[in-house]
Amino acid sequence: MNQETKHGVSSNQTTIHSDLRRVVTKHRQSKWQEPITPYAREASRQILSLIDTQGGPIILDSFCGTGMSTAKIAAENPRALVIGIDKSVNRLSKHVPSEAANYRLIRGSCEQIWAGLVAAGVRCSQHYMLYPNPWPKKSHLKRRIHGHPSFPLLCELSEVMEVRSNWKIYVDEFAAASEILGLNVNVQPLSVNDPLTLFERKYSANSEQLWICRTRLSTSN
Ligand SMILES: C[S@@+](CC[C@H](N)C(=O)[O-])C[C@H]1O[C@@H](n2cnc3c(N)ncnc32)[C@H](O)[C@@H]1O
Repeated sequence: MNQETKHGVSSNQTTIHSDLRRVVTKHRQSKWQEPITPYAREASRQILSLIDTQGGPIILDSFCGTGMSTAKIAAENPRALVIGIDKSVNRLSKHVPSEAANYRLIRGSCEQIWAGLVAAGVRCSQHYMLYPNPWPKKSHLKRRIHGHPSFPLLCELSEVMEVRSNWKIYVDEFAAASEILGLNVNVQPLSVNDPLTLFERKYSANSEQLWICRTRLSTSN
C-alpha cells in the first residue's frame, strides 16, 4: 500500500536509497528475462499497429491513469501519435475523451510493454512518466521505475524522458539512476499553472511542492 499523507509522502527514507547504485548497475549488466505475458504481447502489438499506420513522432505517457495528460499532450503535439499506458481498467474507464484524434489509451503493464516496444525497435521522441506510484518504503526500491530491472530499457525507448512527482527523493533517485546509465539529467521544482494530470491538479490544489526530472541521452551514448 502506498503511504501518502494528506500533504506529501511519508517514508522511512530521508535521502536517496543506499542500494540504488548497486541495483541499477546490476540491472544494467544483465538482460531483464521476465517472460512477456500474452496480455502485454497483445498490448504491444496494438501499439505497433498504430505506429505502422501513423508515420509521425511517437510520444509515450506511461502510468497515464485516466489519460488526462495523454489527451492534453496529443492536443499540444498534433503531428505525434501519443500512447497512454496504465494497468488499471478502472482508471482508464474514467477517461474524459477530448477532441484530439491522435492518441490512444492502452491497458497493460508499462514495464512489459516497454520491453515489447524495445524488442520491436520502436524509438519515441518523448516519454512522460507523471506521478508514478512512489512506493515510499525503503524496501520498495525495486518497485520504483529506476529500481526495476526494466529501467535500462528506457534509454533505448526514448531520447528524452520526463518524470514528475510530489516526492523529491523519488525524482532525485530517478535522476541519479539515469546518470548511472549515462544520461544527462536536470531536476527542478515545478510550478503548475495548468495541471497536466489529475494527481498534479490535486497536489497543486493542496499547495504541495512538485518536482520534475528531465533526462536526455548524452551525445556520447
Ligand atoms: C499515482 S497514479 C498517477 C496517474 C496519472 N499519471 C496522474 O498523474 O493523474 C499512478 C498510476 O500508475 C498506474 N500503474 C502503477 N504501476 C503500473 C504498471 N506497472 N504498469 C502500468 N500502470 C501502472 C496505476 O494504475 C495508476 O493509475
